[in-house]
Amino acid sequence: VSHLSDSKPKVVICRDLGPATALLMNRTDIEVVLWPEDRGCAREWLLENIKGAVGVLVLLPDIVNAELLEAAGPNLRVVSTMSVGYEHIDLPLMAQRKIRVGYTPDVLTEAVADLSVMLALMAGRNDGVAYSLVKNGDASGSWSKFNWSPFTFCGPQLSTTASSPNRTVGFLGFGRISQATLARLVPFGITHCIYTGSPTSKPETARDAALKAKYKLAAVERVDLDRLARESDVLFVLTPGGKETYHLVDAAFLKKMKEMSVLINTSRGTVVDSDALATALHEKWIWGAGLDVVEGEPRIGTDHPLVKEPRCVIVPHIGSATFQTRMDMATRAIDNLIGGVFGTEMPAELDA
Ligand code: DGY
Repeated sequence: VSHLSDSKPKVVICRDLGPATALLMNRTDIEVVLWPEDRGCAREWLLENIKGAVGVLVLLPDIVNAELLEAAGPNLRVVSTMSVGYEHIDLPLMAQRKIRVGYTPDVLTEAVADLSVMLALMAGRNDGVAYSLVKNGDASGSWSKFNWSPFTFCGPQLSTTASSPNRTVGFLGFGRISQATLARLVPFGITHCIYTGSPTSKPETARDAALKAKYKLAAVERVDLDRLARESDVLFVLTPGGKETYHLVDAAFLKKMKEMSVLINTSRGTVVDSDALATALHEKWIWGAGLDVVEGEPRIGTDHPLVKEPRCVIVPHIGSATFQTRMDMATRAIDNLIGGVFGTEMPAELDA
């Protein structure tokens, strides 16, 4: 699909953006080339169509590397990704070629925080096993064999109780989504919040004191990885991917975690070593896991060691998948693209 004109800047859009597509197609000042199918954009199509483009709007599966820039040629001024993550974009290369990069922070914070809490509840409460029993039944074709068995399906409780009054939540990475997740957990009665920050970031003691007072917590404390692993009852992995965070959660880390703890990953699959996590679940080093992202996705077959683990709840990278959030992400990605194409302000530009 394309609006053709020789003089207008060409932009390539790697996926139909649903209702937001109209925001592009109605414009008369750009030539829009839109991947026409309802599936991921084929690489060959992109390499062919990006020739001469001034801007490109990509999604997480579209790798932005030297090959793509080569195919685009010298006109390319902006890469806009409809995601907060940018692992798929070679940022040093963008800086070197002076290509601006737009992304979509903020607008998906609440949706991903919602899903993080959902997974914490599901993983703790044995949802993988319980749900599949209802769907598939036992030998009797129902769940009658397990009816009200006092401790079947039991798991660790996220909320505090009079008999179990302390709960520590840990965050690997303490950015916007972690803080929104913390806010959601306060009504569950959690008592302690610990987190690790990037080694290059400065301590934010004033912010932490303010959060501690606001939520009436016993602690909001920046700790090292060792304490994070040892003390968290529920650990949320919410840090960008890339070389710096690759396999931060490995066998050594998982071995330190509490036996009744739950690990949630709603950021990037590469942060967690999948084989080590499968072993940790299988050998009961930890209680359970809830994953929105898995290393090597989307090719995660039913024979994947994590899919086979009954206490691992996996959803297919749907953290931001609500109508409201995806519309906001698409709109922001389009606004970034247009800003980059015409050399004006982009609502969310990455420091490449
Ligand atoms: C992103 O936008 O990078 C997230 O992974 C969406 O869930």
